[in-house]
Amino acid sequence: MKKINFAEPFTGKLEKKYLNDALDSRWISKGPYVEKFENNFSKVMGCKFSVSVNNGTNALLLILLSLDLKKNDEIIVPSLCYISPIHMLKMLKIKIVPVAVDINTFQIDHHKIEKKITKNTKAILTIHNFGGISNIRKIENIAKKNNLILIEDISETLLSKDKKKYVGVSNDLKLTKLSFSSLHATKTITTGEGGIIFLNNRILSDKIKNIRDHGIKDPKKYLYHRLGGNFRISNLLAAIGCAQLKRINEIKKRKKFIINYYINNLTNNRNIKFQKDPKNFTLVKWGFPIIVKNLKIRNSLINQLNKNSTICRPSFLSLNYMQHLGFKKNDKEFKSARYLQDRILILPMHINLSSQNLSYICNIINNNFK
Ligand SMILES: Cc1ncc(COP(=O)(O)O)c(C=O)c1O
Repeated sequence: MKKINFAEPFTGKLEKKYLNDALDSRWISKGPYVEKFENNFSKVMGCKFSVSVNNGTNALLLILLSLDLKKNDEIIVPSLCYISPIHMLKMLKIKIVPVAVDINTFQIDHHKIEKKITKNTKAILTIHNFGGISNIRKIENIAKKNNLILIEDISETLLSKDKKKYVGVSNDLKLTKLSFSSLHATKTITTGEGGIIFLNNRILSDKIKNIRDHGIKDPKKYLYHRLGGNFRISNLLAAIGCAQLKRINEIKKRKKFIINYYINNLTNNRNIKFQKDPKNFTLVKWGFPIIVKNLKIRNSLINQLNKNSTICRPSFLSLNYMQHLGFKKNDKEFKSARYLQDRILILPMHINLSSQNLSYICNIINNNFK
């Protein structure tokens, strides 16, 4: 059996065509595909503004810079998530306030957010973990009630829908919400390296675009009016992104098929539980996480799959497991994160997986862990 990768980009003739077009045009840094990509993404998502960025990590960095956060400002985060958003907060010296994750959804436990809000809290950063969804309706209400900014990291759930509305957008005028996604090669929509910010606020959108471009005021005079950097995506990568946006229906259909395949074929295995997803949402998952009884079983399952040419991944680690972040080892807010870090296993979810691949993966799991 050929190796089954954990993640693979879904690119083909259209991406090559647009990429060559961008190359032939000789616009290989800035260029018309960038604006086209942003406009087309806004239309897809149903938001007013999209700002493309050179990666997902910098998408959050730009958002944070645009909010003019001050010393002692606090941001609430889940206690288990991919490291990149946490590193950005840490590098800006923002106080990170971790909240326990729910052991069924693997997401920030919304019941526990309000008691962590202080007079210094500026924002809630919800990071939708492993392709699932935090209880976003409840979290939006908490943000509104407490006059907080809501930042949503939708990298692992890009294109998921809450009824008819894409996760990450809100038309609620009482809420300041900014969402962002990585467009890394492992993500549902990719530009190779890349990121995208979605928002409805023109002032913030203009400010983010300005910080993305060195804080420029008048390029002809080399005149700048605020601090900024270079966070731009190239025209070449935006061209790939434009092609990816044309494949959305194909991508969603295939991801749905893969999710259903795993559910149907693993549901009778008593050793496995699925991530609990909310009703009325259509999920487009980045990975397919499952949870098993203990660390020993989890690691032996990973070894078994890897030995059989299937690359799967363990959970992210609880934030207090990594010493450089400076969280207390015995803080109870991390109890559920520590529980999950030992038990979660993420199965591949990329579009190139065939039915044969899926059957092979499910058979290995079912035959070894009845
Ligand atoms: C949830 C989440 N946030 C942020 C990032 C960082 O994005 P990038 O790798 O594009 O910088 C990733 C993935 O890579 C991610 O999964």
